[in-house]
Amino acid sequence: MTMLHVAGTTRTRTPRPVAQAATLGKVMATPQVPLLLVLSKRFVTPLYRATFLASAASYGVLRWMNVRPCDLETLALKLGVQGKEDKRRLRAWLEIGVRLGEFDKHEGCYRLKSRSAKLLARMKHDALAAALEEIMHTHVPVLLNGPKMLRTGERFSMADQDGSVIARSTRVVEPLVEAAIDRTLEREYPVRLLEIGCGSGVYVRYAASVNPRLTALAIDLQDEVARQAAKNIAEWGLTDRVEVRAGDLRTLDLEPQFDLVTMHNNIYYFAPDERVAILERARRLLAPGGKLLLTTSCKGGHIGLDMLNLWFEYADFGGPLPAESDLVDQMTEAGFLDAHAQRIVPGEQFRAFVGTNPHAPLS
Ligand SMILES: C[S@@+](CC[C@H](N)C(=O)[O-])C[C@H]1O[C@@H](n2cnc3c(N)ncnc32)[C@H](O)[C@@H]1O
Repeated sequence: MTMLHVAGTTRTRTPRPVAQAATLGKVMATPQVPLLLVLSKRFVTPLYRATFLASAASYGVLRWMNVRPCDLETLALKLGVQGKEDKRRLRAWLEIGVRLGEFDKHEGCYRLKSRSAKLLARMKHDALAAALEEIMHTHVPVLLNGPKMLRTGERFSMADQDGSVIARSTRVVEPLVEAAIDRTLEREYPVRLLEIGCGSGVYVRYAASVNPRLTALAIDLQDEVARQAAKNIAEWGLTDRVEVRAGDLRTLDLEPQFDLVTMHNNIYYFAPDERVAILERARRLLAPGGKLLLTTSCKGGHIGLDMLNLWFEYADFGGPLPAESDLVDQMTEAGFLDAHAQRIVPGEQFRAFVGTNPHAPLS
């Protein structure tokens, strides 16, 4: 039995014979016990709960249990767990979910119990479930390993991010990006759009719904992300208007034919000293008079954004979220006219940056 276990159980103990009461008194008088009680309640249990929910969301367990309660055999089948021993291990994992109050068990079937589990299980809250996964897979490792990584010189790479999770989690800012598109996208005339770093493709879909004559090329650096985006575009019935390719903005070789280039939530995938060059590349893909719409959270936001910054500090690519004035200056340096930032909603460090490609070629 660990001290943490003692701390977690002592409060609910019923009076016992004198000897046991004396032992209990002694244990409780140990200076660590009050601290352990606080740690257990305020930090450890919430951490277990968040980790369990992230895992249950990640493997689809929440979604299946949202449809109907599931018994062990059903969950084992869906998860591809075979053999008696591994099914026993799966049961142990599920029972921790029950112990934590996320699930309960009724007539041999596991059901969602906590409000958080029920909310995260709904498709409409998928971005939040993915954000929780992202926190576990990126924010927790950088907090845990940061000092060691400085000693060993190890850095995170793109492979340490799960592109498909990030493509889903970034949708937490969907209403803000959509508002930025509403403000910038031409509706009266056909528009040729290039979206760089398209993720799931949701913003191309939105732009296509705002302007029914819009056609688009959507690219993403990561093959698996581009494949999923292409699948989504097909499911949304947009293949005749939207082409998806895997591609890197830094090496993209296309005619300057686009009326609008969009970059949503990815400027921090480029190091600060690379940003003028990549903005210039984006500009050179625009037709004369075409516009860049770039959306991003900026410096000075909530703790989650600081954690994103921290992760990129420890990565071998990218950099911190931009300061608003720095990015406007970089766009101007990259040759955009009238580069400016727009606040989308008060109190949020989320901005839309817009600039225009000059009509006459720059010397
Ligand atoms: C945080 S995700 C944002 C996805 C999407 N734009 C959204 O807002 O939901 C950033 C995306 O940019 C892509 N990306 C990063 N660097 C890129 C590059 N050099 N060229 C093209 N895509 C890039 C990543 O692969 C990733 O899918």
